[in-house]
Amino acid sequence: MKILIFPDVATASAETARRILATLAAQPCAVLGLATGGTMKPVYEALRTALGQSPATFTSFNLDEYVGLPSTHPQSYAYYMKTQLFDAVALPSAQAHLPRGDAPDPAAEATRYEAAIAAAGGIDLQLLGLGANGHIGFNEPTSSLASRTRIKTLTHKTVTDNARYFGPDEVVPRLAITMGIGTILDSRAILLLATGAGKRDAVARMIEGSISAACPATALQLHANVTVLIDEAAAANLKLRDYYETVHPGGADEIYT
Ligand code: F6R
Repeated sequence: MKILIFPDVATASAETARRILATLAAQPCAVLGLATGGTMKPVYEALRTALGQSPATFTSFNLDEYVGLPSTHPQSYAYYMKTQLFDAVALPSAQAHLPRGDAPDPAAEATRYEAAIAAAGGIDLQLLGLGANGHIGFNEPTSSLASRTRIKTLTHKTVTDNARYFGPDEVVPRLAITMGIGTILDSRAILLLATGAGKRDAVARMIEGSISAACPATALQLHANVTVLIDEAAAANLKLRDYYETVHPGGADEIYT
């Protein structure tokens, strides 16, 4: 794992966006794996500014979607992506993939989605956030480290964390379709962005803990091309922080990984 520690959220997010743009410059038709959530908003803001109404040539597959929500629901991840990125960069809808939350048969939808990723040639660059409980995508603790795209039941903590985005009378979904950990590990390269003190325990477990389904993000230790971008607050519990900062001062990317 390459661990890059930045002074603040703005610099960590800007570097994440810069790396995505560098991938697109080298490979305009790249297949991107995309994440949602609060952490990614500054990244998508930077991509909107840099890419403009091009239209975009990449193909994207999002990590996850709530079961039961149509793409028009303001809390659906399809709606998030439309408003945060897709409309602004004029990504043709045939190139923008998310699991269909309102599919009549969610299990069949998960199988179809996994096959669609394979049919596109797999993911060149996967963007990940990190749950405070160590989840990646919606692979909650105890998810199989070999799992493929499927339906997952969200933990009570994830449901309550997400409740702030829903109206008081709305039911917060308890199920999601998510790429599996095995699906994520098949990506050719991975960028994980985590910022803020609320992620410091999960960041330390992911990087320095034992590989375990109890913290799904530890599975990333098995991938040969993972770059973790964090701010100082998220780095606070790392025992080997001095080492990471010696190898990559200020988040600089050296040849030694
Ligand atoms: C969402 C996703 C999740 C989030 C994670 C962090 O597509 O994959 O794993 O990345 O829950 O969410 P925020 O950034 O809101 O803290």
